[in-house]
Amino acid sequence: MKVVITRRIPESIKQMLENDYNVYMWQEDNEPIPYELLLEQVKDADALFTNVSDRIDKQLLQAAPNLKVISTMAVGYDNIDIDEATARGICVGHTPDVLSEAVADLTFALLLATARKVVEAMDYIKEGSWRGWGPMLLTGQNVYNSTMGIIGMGAIGKGVARRASGFGMKVLYHNRRRREDVEQELGVEYCTLNDLLQASDFVVMLAPATPETRRMIGERELSLMKPTAILINTSRGSNIDESALCSALKERQIWGAGLDVFEVEPIHANHPLIALDNVVVLPHIGSATIATRMEMAEMTAQNIRLGLSGAKLIHTVNPDVYNRGS
Ligand code: GLV
Repeated sequence: MKVVITRRIPESIKQMLENDYNVYMWQEDNEPIPYELLLEQVKDADALFTNVSDRIDKQLLQAAPNLKVISTMAVGYDNIDIDEATARGICVGHTPDVLSEAVADLTFALLLATARKVVEAMDYIKEGSWRGWGPMLLTGQNVYNSTMGIIGMGAIGKGVARRASGFGMKVLYHNRRRREDVEQELGVEYCTLNDLLQASDFVVMLAPATPETRRMIGERELSLMKPTAILINTSRGSNIDESALCSALKERQIWGAGLDVFEVEPIHANHPLIALDNVVVLPHIGSATIATRMEMAEMTAQNIRLGLSGAKLIHTVNPDVYNRGS
């Protein structure tokens, strides 16, 4: 059987697949396989080891008649046409849980970096601008004792809420459905999106990308936020209307934004957000610790091995696939 791997992965993980299957691996670490090449490679593929930046659409699935498993090295799967995969009997695996704490850490790193102008301050030294201590030089926003509003209270949201309690923060949240279990466990408070936006010093976007969450933060929502508030996004760029955010930041309608994800990735140095002095941007590195990425890669390979042997995956995105025809 043939497994297509769309990015260069650590040798030990590749071995897990090479022992039993023919493996084609795209050799670049950080550059996506061209769509046309992937289209060619999947023609006789039984399994696909993919990631957030590959477009796994209907056309690609139609070109892969033997495909049995798609395994993405990510928790999010908005880049994959799940309905088409299910209709074709293809199991889709992903890697939740193992990355939650790493993403929660990065969310906090971005929050602190934005609130306390950490990146701007280092640039200030690099530019040779540091002449001496200044009373209001590089002053930011208080984090300790502030109010955080988390949109999307899943495993990552819980991780962020736990960290927030160490910073003495009050935590509000908004979620598709109310999570009374989490309220009891972590003392967080459910509220409407409008109330959350109006009350929070830090609005933290952690919802998955779905048709319902698409651009859920736009001009109206940004206008409800405090002028001193900061928006953090470590989920998916499509959850926020980027041009509305750019205008709100430019006009100082909100104080700042820390973004790890974008509507179209990668962004380049000439992206309008880069020109702003109240933004910290990162290249989608939420789960990027060595240990976490190794665990994700291993689980992605395991999902392929399980799927190709006819067993259930560790985490299946489309469990309906197991009930087809029964
Ligand atoms: C990364 O964005 C992921 O979905 O794991």
